[in-house]
Amino acid sequence: MAWLASKFGFLAVLLALVAAGSGERSGPEAYVTLLYGDEFLLGVRVLGRSIRDTGSEKDMVALVSDGVSDFAKKLLQADGWKVELISLLANPNQVRPKRFWGVYTKLKIFNMTRYKKVVYLDADTIVVKSIEDLFQCGRFCANLKHSERLNSGVMVVEPSATLFEDMMRQVNSLPSYTGGDQGFLNSYYADFPNAHLFVPNLSAENSRPQPEMERLSTLYNADVGLYMLANKWMVDEKDLKVIHYTLGPLKPWDWWTAWLVKPVDVWQNVREKLEESLPGTGGGRNPNDQLLVNILFALPICALLFCYYRYRLQTNDDLSCTFSRSSLYDYARRIYYKFKSSSGSPSYSGVGVASSSTINPNQQFVNGTSRLPVYLGAVSVFFCFMAAILSLTLAFVIVPRQVMPWTGLLLMYEWTFTTFFIVFGCYLELVYQWGKTKSRAGALFASNDSSDYDSEKGHQRRTSACDIVTWSYGTGMALIAVIAPSLPCVLGITALFANFICLYRLGLMVAGGIVLASFMSYASEHLAIRSFVRGLEDRDLPRSRSISLVC
Ligand SMILES: *[C@@H]1O[C@H](CO)[C@@H](O)[C@H](O)[C@H]1NC(C)=O
Ligand SMILES: *[C@@H]1O[C@H](CO)[C@@H](O)[C@H](O)[C@H]1NC(C)=O
Repeated sequence: MAWLASKFGFLAVLLALVAAGSGERSGPEAYVTLLYGDEFLLGVRVLGRSIRDTGSEKDMVALVSDGVSDFAKKLLQADGWKVELISLLANPNQVRPKRFWGVYTKLKIFNMTRYKKVVYLDADTIVVKSIEDLFQCGRFCANLKHSERLNSGVMVVEPSATLFEDMMRQVNSLPSYTGGDQGFLNSYYADFPNAHLFVPNLSAENSRPQPEMERLSTLYNADVGLYMLANKWMVDEKDLKVIHYTLGPLKPWDWWTAWLVKPVDVWQNVREKLEESLPGTGGGRNPNDQLLVNILFALPICALLFCYYRYRLQTNDDLSCTFSRSSLYDYARRIYYKFKSSSGSPSYSGVGVASSSTINPNQQFVNGTSRLPVYLGAVSVFFCFMAAILSLTLAFVIVPRQVMPWTGLLLMYEWTFTTFFIVFGCYLELVYQWGKTKSRAGALFASNDSSDYDSEKGHQRRTSACDIVTWSYGTGMALIAVIAPSLPCVLGITALFANFICLYRLGLMVAGGIVLASFMSYASEHLAIRSFVRGLEDRDLPRSRSISLVC
Protein backbone atom coordinates (compact mmCIF):
# COMPACT_ATOMS: atom_id res chain seq x y z
CA MET A 1 0.00 0.00 0.00
CA ALA A 2 2.75 2.41 1.00
CA TRP A 3 4.51 1.63 -2.24
CA LEU A 4 1.37 2.37 -4.20
CA ALA A 5 0.82 5.63 -2.34
CA SER A 6 4.36 6.78 -2.99
CA LYS A 7 4.02 5.84 -6.64
CA PHE A 8 0.84 7.89 -6.92
CA GLY A 9 2.51 10.70 -5.04
CA PHE A 10 5.33 10.66 -7.53
CA LEU A 11 2.84 10.71 -10.41
CA ALA A 12 0.99 13.62 -8.86
CA VAL A 13 4.24 15.57 -8.49
CA LEU A 14 5.12 14.78 -12.10
CA LEU A 15 1.71 15.93 -13.29
CA ALA A 16 2.00 19.10 -11.25
CA LEU A 17 5.43 19.76 -12.76
CA VAL A 18 4.13 19.30 -16.29
CA ALA A 19 1.19 21.55 -15.55
CA ALA A 20 3.51 24.18 -14.07
CA GLY A 21 5.82 23.86 -17.06
CA SER A 22 3.02 24.44 -19.53
CA GLY A 23 1.74 27.31 -17.39
CA GLU A 24 5.19 28.83 -17.61
CA ARG A 25 5.02 29.14 -21.36
CA SER A 26 1.45 30.27 -21.63
CA GLY A 27 -1.18 29.37 -19.14
CA PRO A 28 -4.61 28.24 -20.19
CA GLU A 29 -6.11 31.32 -18.65
CA ALA A 30 -5.10 34.95 -18.73
CA TYR A 31 -6.08 38.48 -17.90
CA VAL A 32 -6.13 40.63 -21.00
CA THR A 33 -6.25 44.33 -21.64
CA LEU A 34 -5.93 46.58 -24.66
CA LEU A 35 -3.71 49.61 -25.11
CA TYR A 36 -4.18 51.93 -28.07
CA GLY A 37 -1.84 54.72 -27.01
CA ASP A 38 0.45 55.89 -24.23
CA GLU A 39 -2.30 57.88 -22.55
CA PHE A 40 -3.74 54.75 -20.94
CA LEU A 41 -0.32 53.27 -20.07
CA LEU A 42 -0.54 54.28 -16.42
CA GLY A 43 -4.00 52.74 -16.26
CA VAL A 44 -2.68 49.40 -17.49
CA ARG A 45 0.23 49.52 -15.04
CA VAL A 46 -2.10 50.13 -12.12
CA LEU A 47 -4.49 47.45 -13.34
CA GLY A 48 -1.65 44.93 -13.49
CA ARG A 49 -0.46 45.80 -10.04
CA SER A 50 -3.99 45.51 -8.69
CA ILE A 51 -4.37 42.05 -10.23
CA ARG A 52 -1.11 40.88 -8.70
CA ASP A 53 -2.16 42.41 -5.37
CA THR A 54 -5.11 40.03 -5.24
CA GLY A 55 -2.62 37.15 -5.33
CA SER A 56 -3.20 36.02 -8.90
CA GLU A 57 -0.34 34.29 -10.70
CA LYS A 58 -2.09 34.05 -14.03
CA ASP A 59 -0.75 35.49 -17.26
CA MET A 60 -1.39 39.14 -17.93
CA VAL A 61 -1.49 39.98 -21.60
CA ALA A 62 -1.46 43.50 -22.96
CA LEU A 63 -2.53 43.76 -26.58
CA VAL A 64 -0.87 46.91 -27.88
CA SER A 65 -1.47 48.63 -31.18
CA ASP A 66 0.86 50.71 -33.34
CA GLY A 67 0.15 53.91 -31.41
CA VAL A 68 2.02 52.64 -28.36
CA SER A 69 5.63 53.75 -27.86
CA ASP A 70 8.54 51.38 -27.38
CA PHE A 71 9.09 52.80 -23.91
CA ALA A 72 5.54 51.85 -22.93
CA LYS A 73 6.01 48.32 -24.21
CA LYS A 74 9.28 47.91 -22.32
CA LEU A 75 7.72 49.30 -19.18
CA LEU A 76 4.76 46.93 -19.36
CA GLN A 77 7.09 44.00 -19.87
CA ALA A 78 9.13 45.09 -16.88
CA ASP A 79 5.89 45.26 -14.91
CA GLY A 80 5.16 41.62 -15.75
CA TRP A 81 2.82 41.96 -18.72
CA LYS A 82 3.11 39.84 -21.83
CA VAL A 83 3.05 42.43 -24.57
CA GLU A 84 1.51 41.38 -27.87
CA LEU A 85 1.45 43.58 -30.92
CA ILE A 86 -1.82 43.66 -32.81
CA SER A 87 -2.89 45.52 -35.88
CA LEU A 88 -6.02 47.60 -35.61
CA LEU A 89 -9.14 46.00 -36.93
CA ALA A 90 -10.67 48.22 -39.60
CA ASN A 91 -13.97 49.78 -38.69
CA PRO A 92 -16.61 48.63 -41.13
CA ASN A 93 -19.01 51.29 -39.93
CA GLN A 94 -18.50 53.82 -42.69
CA VAL A 95 -20.48 56.61 -41.07
CA ARG A 96 -17.66 57.76 -38.82
CA PRO A 97 -14.72 55.79 -40.15
CA LYS A 98 -11.93 58.14 -39.06
CA ARG A 99 -12.71 58.80 -35.45
CA PHE A 100 -13.62 55.27 -34.60
CA TRP A 101 -10.85 53.64 -36.54
CA GLY A 102 -9.85 50.53 -34.71
CA VAL A 103 -12.64 50.39 -32.18
CA TYR A 104 -13.48 46.88 -33.34
CA THR A 105 -10.00 45.78 -32.35
CA LYS A 106 -11.32 44.56 -29.02
CA LEU A 107 -12.94 41.66 -30.86
CA LYS A 108 -9.45 40.23 -31.32
CA ILE A 109 -9.59 38.85 -27.81
CA PHE A 110 -11.98 36.25 -29.22
CA ASN A 111 -9.09 35.11 -31.40
CA MET A 112 -6.61 34.48 -28.56
CA THR A 113 -6.99 30.79 -29.08
CA ARG A 114 -3.92 29.64 -27.20
CA TYR A 115 -5.81 30.49 -24.01
CA LYS A 116 -8.74 28.44 -22.87
CA LYS A 117 -10.37 31.40 -21.22
CA VAL A 118 -9.50 35.06 -20.84
CA VAL A 119 -10.83 37.75 -18.55
CA TYR A 120 -10.77 41.02 -20.39
CA LEU A 121 -10.48 44.27 -18.40
CA ASP A 122 -10.48 47.82 -19.75
CA ALA A 123 -7.42 49.92 -18.94
CA ASP A 124 -9.59 52.21 -16.81
CA THR A 125 -10.61 49.46 -14.40
CA ILE A 126 -9.01 48.32 -11.19
CA VAL A 127 -9.34 45.00 -9.39
CA VAL A 128 -9.94 45.44 -5.67
CA LYS A 129 -10.76 41.85 -4.75
CA SER A 130 -9.78 38.53 -6.28
CA ILE A 131 -11.73 37.76 -9.45
CA GLU A 132 -10.22 34.35 -10.13
CA ASP A 133 -13.70 32.88 -9.92
CA LEU A 134 -14.52 34.62 -13.20
CA PHE A 135 -12.59 31.89 -15.03
CA GLN A 136 -15.42 29.53 -14.10
CA CYS A 137 -17.89 31.70 -15.97
CA GLY A 138 -19.60 30.56 -19.18
CA ARG A 139 -18.42 31.00 -22.76
CA PHE A 140 -19.24 34.66 -22.77
CA CYS A 141 -19.90 36.76 -19.67
CA ALA A 142 -20.35 40.47 -19.34
CA ASN A 143 -22.13 43.00 -17.23
CA LEU A 144 -25.48 44.59 -18.06
CA LYS A 145 -25.61 48.33 -17.76
CA HIS A 146 -28.28 50.95 -18.23
CA SER A 147 -31.06 50.09 -20.64
CA GLU A 148 -30.26 46.41 -20.76
CA ARG A 149 -27.09 46.71 -22.70
CA LEU A 150 -23.97 44.77 -22.07
CA ASN A 151 -20.85 46.69 -21.20
CA SER A 152 -17.62 45.52 -22.79
CA GLY A 153 -15.40 46.94 -20.05
CA VAL A 154 -15.18 43.64 -18.20
CA MET A 155 -15.75 40.41 -20.13
CA VAL A 156 -15.03 36.73 -19.79
CA VAL A 157 -14.38 35.18 -23.17
CA GLU A 158 -13.66 31.67 -24.36
CA PRO A 159 -11.53 32.32 -27.44
CA SER A 160 -12.43 30.29 -30.48
CA ALA A 161 -11.35 30.58 -34.10
CA THR A 162 -14.78 29.64 -35.42
CA LEU A 163 -16.52 32.15 -33.18
CA PHE A 164 -14.09 34.86 -34.24
CA GLU A 165 -14.52 34.07 -37.92
CA ASP A 166 -18.27 34.13 -37.51
CA MET A 167 -18.00 37.53 -35.88
CA MET A 168 -15.79 38.83 -38.67
CA ARG A 169 -18.36 37.65 -41.19
CA GLN A 170 -21.14 39.54 -39.44
CA VAL A 171 -19.18 42.68 -38.60
CA ASN A 172 -20.34 44.34 -41.81
CA SER A 173 -23.98 43.40 -41.54
CA LEU A 174 -24.86 43.76 -37.84
CA PRO A 175 -25.67 47.25 -36.58
CA SER A 176 -23.66 48.82 -33.78
CA TYR A 177 -25.34 51.45 -31.68
CA THR A 178 -22.02 52.83 -30.44
CA GLY A 179 -20.31 52.51 -33.80
CA GLY A 180 -17.79 50.27 -32.04
CA ASP A 181 -17.25 46.88 -30.48
CA GLN A 182 -19.71 47.32 -27.63
CA GLY A 183 -22.58 48.04 -29.98
CA PHE A 184 -21.58 45.16 -32.18
CA LEU A 185 -21.43 42.72 -29.26
CA ASN A 186 -24.88 43.85 -28.20
CA SER A 187 -26.16 42.96 -31.64
CA TYR A 188 -24.18 39.74 -31.84
CA TYR A 189 -25.35 38.54 -28.42
CA ALA A 190 -28.84 39.89 -28.93
CA ASP A 191 -30.24 37.48 -26.38
CA PHE A 192 -27.79 38.51 -23.69
CA PRO A 193 -30.27 40.36 -21.39
CA ASN A 194 -32.00 37.01 -20.84
CA ALA A 195 -28.83 35.29 -19.68
CA HIS A 196 -28.71 33.95 -16.13
CA LEU A 197 -26.68 35.60 -13.45
CA PHE A 198 -23.27 34.07 -12.87
CA VAL A 199 -23.02 32.61 -9.38
CA PRO A 200 -19.43 31.57 -8.58
CA ASN A 201 -20.21 28.71 -6.22
CA LEU A 202 -22.71 27.08 -8.58
CA SER A 203 -20.30 27.13 -11.47
CA ALA A 204 -17.57 25.60 -9.40
CA GLU A 205 -19.35 22.26 -9.68
CA ASN A 206 -17.86 20.94 -12.87
CA SER A 207 -20.86 18.72 -13.49
CA ARG A 208 -23.03 21.49 -14.86
CA PRO A 209 -22.86 22.19 -18.59
CA GLN A 210 -20.98 25.29 -19.68
CA PRO A 211 -23.62 27.93 -20.39
CA GLU A 212 -23.38 29.96 -23.56
CA MET A 213 -23.70 33.32 -21.84
CA GLU A 214 -23.87 34.53 -18.28
CA ARG A 215 -24.52 37.88 -16.76
CA LEU A 216 -22.02 39.31 -14.29
CA SER A 217 -23.11 41.08 -11.17
CA THR A 218 -22.41 44.80 -10.77
CA LEU A 219 -19.64 43.88 -8.35
CA TYR A 220 -17.45 42.84 -11.28
CA ASN A 221 -17.92 46.10 -13.13
CA ALA A 222 -18.86 48.80 -10.64
CA ASP A 223 -19.35 52.00 -12.57
CA VAL A 224 -17.96 55.14 -10.94
CA GLY A 225 -20.55 57.12 -12.89
CA LEU A 226 -23.26 55.44 -10.83
CA TYR A 227 -21.36 56.23 -7.66
CA MET A 228 -21.29 59.89 -8.65
CA LEU A 229 -25.03 59.99 -9.08
CA ALA A 230 -25.82 58.82 -5.60
CA ASN A 231 -22.53 59.63 -3.87
CA LYS A 232 -22.37 56.04 -2.67
CA TRP A 233 -22.06 52.56 -4.05
CA MET A 234 -25.41 50.89 -4.59
CA VAL A 235 -23.85 47.66 -3.38
CA ASP A 236 -21.91 46.86 -0.26
CA GLU A 237 -18.57 48.56 -0.73
CA LYS A 238 -16.57 45.74 0.81
CA ASP A 239 -17.95 43.28 -1.75
CA LEU A 240 -16.72 45.30 -4.74
CA LYS A 241 -14.41 43.39 -7.03
CA VAL A 242 -13.75 45.61 -10.04
CA ILE A 243 -14.18 49.38 -10.20
CA HIS A 244 -14.62 50.88 -13.64
CA TYR A 245 -13.73 54.58 -14.04
CA THR A 246 -15.97 55.27 -16.98
CA LEU A 247 -16.35 59.05 -16.81
CA GLY A 248 -14.77 60.71 -19.82
CA PRO A 249 -12.78 63.68 -18.54
CA LEU A 250 -12.43 62.14 -15.09
CA LYS A 251 -10.01 59.32 -15.75
CA PRO A 252 -8.23 58.30 -12.55
CA TRP A 253 -4.78 59.15 -13.88
CA ASP A 254 -5.66 62.81 -14.50
CA TRP A 255 -4.51 64.71 -11.43
CA TRP A 256 -7.75 66.66 -10.96
CA THR A 257 -9.92 63.57 -10.74
CA ALA A 258 -8.60 62.65 -7.32
CA TRP A 259 -9.97 65.98 -6.05
CA LEU A 260 -13.42 65.38 -7.49
CA VAL A 261 -14.21 61.68 -7.39
CA LYS A 262 -13.80 59.84 -4.13
CA PRO A 263 -13.36 56.24 -5.38
CA VAL A 264 -10.20 57.37 -7.16
CA ASP A 265 -8.47 57.05 -3.77
CA VAL A 266 -8.41 53.31 -4.30
CA TRP A 267 -6.75 53.74 -7.65
CA GLN A 268 -4.24 56.29 -6.35
CA ASN A 269 -3.25 53.99 -3.49
CA VAL A 270 -2.35 51.22 -5.93
CA ARG A 271 -0.58 53.72 -8.16
CA GLU A 272 1.64 54.87 -5.33
CA LYS A 273 2.71 51.27 -4.78
CA LEU A 274 3.91 50.82 -8.37
CA GLU A 275 7.48 49.61 -8.42
CA GLU A 276 10.33 51.23 -10.23
CA SER A 277 10.46 48.53 -12.89
CA LEU A 278 12.33 50.92 -15.17
CA PRO A 279 14.41 53.83 -13.86
CA GLY A 280 12.24 56.74 -12.78
CA THR A 281 8.91 54.96 -13.06
CA GLY A 282 8.24 54.20 -9.40
CA GLY A 283 4.92 55.46 -8.05
CA GLY A 284 3.54 55.63 -11.57
CA ARG A 285 5.85 58.44 -12.53
CA ASN A 286 6.77 59.19 -16.10
CA PRO A 287 10.48 60.14 -16.45
CA ASN A 288 9.66 62.75 -19.11
CA ASP A 289 6.90 64.31 -17.08
CA GLN A 290 9.18 64.37 -14.05
CA LEU A 291 11.71 66.61 -15.77
CA LEU A 292 8.94 68.89 -16.98
CA VAL A 293 7.44 69.04 -13.50
CA ASN A 294 10.77 70.07 -11.99
CA ILE A 295 11.20 72.80 -14.59
CA LEU A 296 7.63 73.99 -14.09
CA PHE A 297 8.15 74.18 -10.36
CA ALA A 298 11.43 76.05 -10.65
CA LEU A 299 10.51 78.53 -13.37
CA PRO A 300 8.12 80.78 -11.43
CA ILE A 301 10.39 80.70 -8.41
CA CYS A 302 13.32 81.78 -10.56
CA ALA A 303 11.17 84.53 -12.03
CA LEU A 304 10.26 85.66 -8.54
CA LEU A 305 13.89 85.69 -7.41
CA PHE A 306 14.83 87.62 -10.53
CA CYS A 307 12.12 90.17 -9.81
CA TYR A 308 13.32 90.52 -6.26
CA TYR A 309 16.88 90.98 -7.45
CA ARG A 310 15.89 93.73 -9.88
CA TYR A 311 13.74 95.27 -7.22
CA ARG A 312 16.69 95.43 -4.86
CA LEU A 313 18.87 96.94 -7.56
CA GLN A 314 16.34 99.71 -8.08
CA THR A 315 15.84 100.43 -4.45
CA ASN A 316 19.57 100.83 -3.97
CA ASP A 317 19.59 103.98 -6.01
CA ASP A 318 16.04 104.95 -5.14
CA LEU A 319 15.71 104.46 -1.43
CA SER A 320 12.12 105.55 -1.28
CA CYS A 321 10.56 102.15 -1.80
CA THR A 322 11.63 99.22 0.28
CA PHE A 323 9.99 96.66 2.47
CA SER A 324 11.88 98.15 5.37
CA ARG A 325 10.36 98.76 8.73
CA SER A 326 9.71 102.39 7.85
CA SER A 327 7.46 101.53 4.93
CA LEU A 328 5.62 98.94 6.97
CA TYR A 329 5.19 101.50 9.67
CA ASP A 330 4.00 103.93 7.08
CA TYR A 331 1.50 101.43 5.81
CA ALA A 332 0.17 100.75 9.27
CA ARG A 333 -0.15 104.46 9.86
CA ARG A 334 -2.14 104.87 6.67
CA ILE A 335 -4.48 102.12 7.64
CA TYR A 336 -4.95 103.80 10.97
CA TYR A 337 -5.77 107.08 9.26
CA LYS A 338 -8.11 105.36 6.92
CA PHE A 339 -10.12 103.91 9.75
CA LYS A 340 -10.03 107.16 11.64
CA SER A 341 -11.19 109.23 8.71
CA SER A 342 -13.87 106.88 7.49
CA SER A 343 -14.92 106.14 11.09
CA GLY A 344 -15.50 102.50 10.38
CA SER A 345 -17.94 102.86 7.53
CA PRO A 346 -16.87 101.17 4.30
CA SER A 347 -15.56 103.82 1.99
CA TYR A 348 -15.88 102.09 -1.30
CA SER A 349 -17.94 103.99 -3.81
CA GLY A 350 -19.01 102.61 -7.14
CA VAL A 351 -16.54 104.62 -9.14
CA GLY A 352 -13.72 103.85 -6.80
CA VAL A 353 -12.45 107.39 -6.92
CA ALA A 354 -13.45 108.18 -3.42
CA SER A 355 -11.99 104.99 -2.10
CA SER A 356 -8.61 105.65 -3.60
CA SER A 357 -8.44 108.98 -1.89
CA THR A 358 -9.56 107.67 1.46
CA ILE A 359 -7.26 104.71 1.48
CA ASN A 360 -4.34 107.02 0.90
CA PRO A 361 -5.42 110.05 2.83
CA ASN A 362 -2.04 111.72 2.79
CA GLN A 363 -1.83 111.52 -0.95
CA GLN A 364 -3.17 114.43 -2.89
CA PHE A 365 -5.18 112.62 -5.52
CA VAL A 366 -7.69 115.37 -5.97
CA ASN A 367 -5.89 116.76 -9.00
CA GLY A 368 -5.61 113.44 -10.68
CA THR A 369 -9.05 112.08 -10.08
CA SER A 370 -10.69 114.81 -12.04
CA ARG A 371 -8.93 113.54 -15.13
CA LEU A 372 -9.65 109.85 -14.60
CA PRO A 373 -11.27 108.22 -17.61
CA VAL A 374 -14.72 107.10 -16.47
CA TYR A 375 -14.41 103.69 -18.03
CA LEU A 376 -11.06 102.88 -16.38
CA GLY A 377 -12.72 100.96 -13.56
CA ALA A 378 -14.88 98.82 -15.81
CA VAL A 379 -12.01 98.12 -18.19
CA SER A 380 -9.80 97.11 -15.27
CA VAL A 381 -12.36 94.70 -13.87
CA PHE A 382 -12.86 93.18 -17.30
CA PHE A 383 -9.13 92.88 -17.82
CA CYS A 384 -8.63 91.37 -14.40
CA PHE A 385 -11.10 88.59 -15.12
CA MET A 386 -9.69 88.00 -18.56
CA ALA A 387 -6.22 87.73 -17.03
CA ALA A 388 -7.54 85.27 -14.44
CA ILE A 389 -9.19 83.09 -17.09
CA LEU A 390 -6.11 83.27 -19.27
CA SER A 391 -3.79 82.22 -16.47
CA LEU A 392 -6.07 79.40 -15.38
CA THR A 393 -6.22 78.08 -18.92
CA LEU A 394 -2.49 78.38 -19.42
CA ALA A 395 -1.76 76.61 -16.14
CA PHE A 396 -4.23 73.87 -17.01
CA VAL A 397 -2.64 73.31 -20.41
CA ILE A 398 0.91 73.46 -19.12
CA VAL A 399 0.64 71.04 -16.18
CA PRO A 400 1.14 67.41 -17.26
CA ARG A 401 -2.11 65.49 -16.79
CA GLN A 402 -0.80 62.36 -15.16
CA VAL A 403 1.16 63.82 -12.26
CA MET A 404 0.22 63.11 -8.65
CA PRO A 405 -2.86 65.01 -7.43
CA TRP A 406 -0.89 67.20 -5.05
CA THR A 407 1.78 68.00 -7.61
CA GLY A 408 -0.89 68.94 -10.09
CA LEU A 409 -2.71 71.18 -7.66
CA LEU A 410 0.43 72.98 -6.48
CA LEU A 411 1.70 73.51 -10.01
CA MET A 412 -1.71 74.75 -11.01
CA TYR A 413 -1.72 77.37 -8.26
CA GLU A 414 1.87 78.35 -8.86
CA TRP A 415 1.36 78.93 -12.57
CA THR A 416 -2.02 80.57 -12.29
CA PHE A 417 -0.78 83.10 -9.77
CA THR A 418 2.50 83.80 -11.53
CA THR A 419 0.85 84.29 -14.91
CA PHE A 420 -1.95 86.36 -13.44
CA PHE A 421 0.33 88.70 -11.56
CA ILE A 422 2.64 89.17 -14.53
CA VAL A 423 -0.25 89.85 -16.93
CA PHE A 424 -2.11 92.10 -14.56
CA GLY A 425 1.12 93.80 -13.52
CA CYS A 426 1.78 94.60 -17.17
CA TYR A 427 -1.70 96.05 -17.41
CA LEU A 428 -1.11 98.25 -14.37
CA GLU A 429 2.16 99.39 -15.87
CA LEU A 430 0.31 100.32 -19.06
CA VAL A 431 -2.25 102.26 -17.08
CA TYR A 432 0.55 104.01 -15.27
CA GLN A 433 2.17 105.03 -18.54
CA TRP A 434 -1.20 106.12 -19.80
CA GLY A 435 -1.63 108.32 -16.78
CA LYS A 436 1.77 109.84 -17.48
CA THR A 437 0.94 110.71 -21.06
CA LYS A 438 -2.41 112.07 -20.02
CA SER A 439 -0.72 114.19 -17.42
CA ARG A 440 1.73 115.62 -19.94
CA ALA A 441 -1.10 116.46 -22.28
CA GLY A 442 -3.03 118.04 -19.46
CA ALA A 443 -0.02 120.06 -18.44
CA LEU A 444 -0.15 121.94 -21.72
CA PHE A 445 -3.53 123.32 -20.81
CA ALA A 446 -3.08 123.91 -17.15
CA SER A 447 0.56 124.31 -16.42
CA ASN A 448 0.13 125.10 -12.77
CA ASP A 449 -2.02 122.02 -12.19
CA SER A 450 0.62 120.37 -10.14
CA SER A 451 2.07 123.45 -8.59
CA ASP A 452 1.26 122.21 -5.13
CA TYR A 453 3.87 119.55 -5.52
CA ASP A 454 6.72 120.91 -3.56
CA SER A 455 9.65 118.65 -3.16
CA GLU A 456 8.76 117.77 0.41
CA LYS A 457 5.34 116.46 -0.51
CA GLY A 458 6.64 114.65 -3.51
CA HIS A 459 9.11 112.85 -1.35
CA GLN A 460 6.45 111.98 1.16
CA ARG A 461 4.21 110.60 -1.54
CA ARG A 462 6.92 108.48 -2.98
CA THR A 463 7.64 107.04 0.39
CA SER A 464 4.07 106.06 0.99
CA ALA A 465 3.27 104.94 -2.52
CA CYS A 466 5.35 101.87 -2.00
CA ASP A 467 4.03 98.78 -3.70
CA ILE A 468 2.96 97.34 -0.42
CA VAL A 469 -0.64 98.11 -1.35
CA THR A 470 -0.27 96.22 -4.58
CA TRP A 471 1.32 93.38 -2.72
CA SER A 472 -1.35 93.21 -0.09
CA TYR A 473 -4.07 93.16 -2.73
CA GLY A 474 -2.21 90.44 -4.56
CA THR A 475 -1.80 88.39 -1.40
CA GLY A 476 -5.46 88.89 -0.58
CA MET A 477 -6.51 87.65 -3.99
CA ALA A 478 -4.20 84.67 -3.76
CA LEU A 479 -5.47 83.75 -0.30
CA ILE A 480 -9.11 83.89 -1.31
CA ALA A 481 -8.32 82.02 -4.50
CA VAL A 482 -6.78 79.22 -2.45
CA ILE A 483 -9.43 79.17 0.24
CA ALA A 484 -12.52 79.40 -1.97
CA PRO A 485 -12.08 76.13 -3.88
CA SER A 486 -10.68 74.25 -0.90
CA LEU A 487 -13.50 75.19 1.47
CA PRO A 488 -15.67 72.20 0.57
CA CYS A 489 -12.59 70.00 0.54
CA VAL A 490 -11.73 71.08 4.07
CA LEU A 491 -15.27 70.27 5.06
CA GLY A 492 -14.94 66.81 3.56
CA ILE A 493 -16.61 67.16 0.19
CA THR A 494 -16.39 64.04 -1.89
CA ALA A 495 -18.85 64.57 -4.68
CA LEU A 496 -19.75 67.75 -6.44
CA PHE A 497 -23.22 67.11 -7.66
CA ALA A 498 -25.00 64.46 -5.72
CA ASN A 499 -27.42 64.74 -2.88
CA PHE A 500 -28.65 67.50 -0.69
CA ILE A 501 -25.55 67.87 1.45
CA CYS A 502 -23.44 68.20 -1.64
CA LEU A 503 -25.67 70.94 -2.95
CA TYR A 504 -24.91 72.79 0.23
CA ARG A 505 -21.22 72.21 -0.31
CA LEU A 506 -21.46 73.31 -3.90
CA GLY A 507 -23.18 76.40 -2.56
CA LEU A 508 -20.19 77.01 -0.32
CA MET A 509 -17.92 76.84 -3.33
CA VAL A 510 -20.10 79.25 -5.25
CA ALA A 511 -20.13 81.62 -2.28
CA GLY A 512 -16.35 81.45 -2.13
CA GLY A 513 -16.21 82.19 -5.84
CA ILE A 514 -18.46 85.22 -5.41
CA VAL A 515 -16.30 86.56 -2.60
CA LEU A 516 -13.25 86.08 -4.77
CA ALA A 517 -14.89 87.76 -7.76
CA SER A 518 -15.98 90.76 -5.72
CA PHE A 519 -12.59 91.13 -4.18
CA MET A 520 -10.97 90.86 -7.59
CA SER A 521 -13.27 93.53 -9.00
CA TYR A 522 -12.58 95.84 -6.12
CA ALA A 523 -8.84 95.28 -6.11
CA SER A 524 -8.40 95.54 -9.86
CA GLU A 525 -10.34 98.77 -10.06
CA HIS A 526 -8.56 100.26 -7.13
CA LEU A 527 -5.11 99.24 -8.31
CA ALA A 528 -5.72 100.52 -11.81
CA ILE A 529 -6.89 103.89 -10.54
CA ARG A 530 -3.94 104.02 -8.24
CA SER A 531 -1.54 103.31 -11.08
CA PHE A 532 -3.21 105.86 -13.27
CA VAL A 533 -3.07 108.58 -10.66
CA ARG A 534 0.50 107.74 -9.91
CA GLY A 535 1.23 108.04 -13.59
CA LEU A 536 -0.42 111.45 -13.59
CA GLU A 537 1.74 112.56 -10.74
CA ASP A 538 4.94 110.95 -11.87
CA ARG A 539 5.31 112.63 -15.21
CA ASP A 540 8.49 114.35 -14.13
CA LEU A 541 10.01 111.39 -12.37
CA PRO A 542 12.30 108.93 -14.07
CA ARG A 543 10.50 105.81 -15.25
CA SER A 544 12.60 103.41 -13.23
CA ARG A 545 10.53 103.43 -10.05
CA SER A 546 7.38 102.21 -11.68
CA ILE A 547 9.10 99.14 -12.98
CA SER A 548 8.98 97.54 -9.57
CA LEU A 549 5.29 97.03 -10.20
CA VAL A 550 5.90 94.58 -12.99
CA CYS A 551 9.57 93.82 -12.39
C1 LIG B 1 -6.62 35.00 -35.50
O1 LIG B 1 -5.70 34.05 -34.98
C2 LIG B 1 -5.06 33.27 -35.95
C3 LIG B 1 -4.23 32.22 -35.24
O2 LIG B 1 -3.67 32.74 -34.08
C4 LIG B 1 -4.23 34.15 -36.86
O3 LIG B 1 -3.59 33.39 -37.87
C5 LIG B 1 -5.12 35.19 -37.51
O4 LIG B 1 -4.36 36.10 -38.27
C6 LIG B 1 -5.90 35.95 -36.44
N1 LIG B 1 -6.85 36.83 -37.10
C7 LIG B 1 -6.83 38.16 -36.96
C8 LIG B 1 -7.83 38.93 -37.73
O5 LIG B 1 -6.05 38.71 -36.22
C1 LIG C 1 -18.90 30.35 -2.00
O1 LIG C 1 -17.74 30.99 -2.52
C2 LIG C 1 -17.05 31.80 -1.61
C3 LIG C 1 -15.92 32.43 -2.33
O2 LIG C 1 -16.34 32.94 -3.52
C4 LIG C 1 -16.58 30.97 -0.43
O3 LIG C 1 -15.94 31.80 0.52
C5 LIG C 1 -17.74 30.31 0.21
O4 LIG C 1 -17.31 29.45 1.23
C6 LIG C 1 -18.52 29.48 -0.82
N1 LIG C 1 -19.70 28.93 -0.24
C7 LIG C 1 -20.07 27.68 -0.42
C8 LIG C 1 -21.32 27.27 0.24
O5 LIG C 1 -19.42 26.91 -1.07
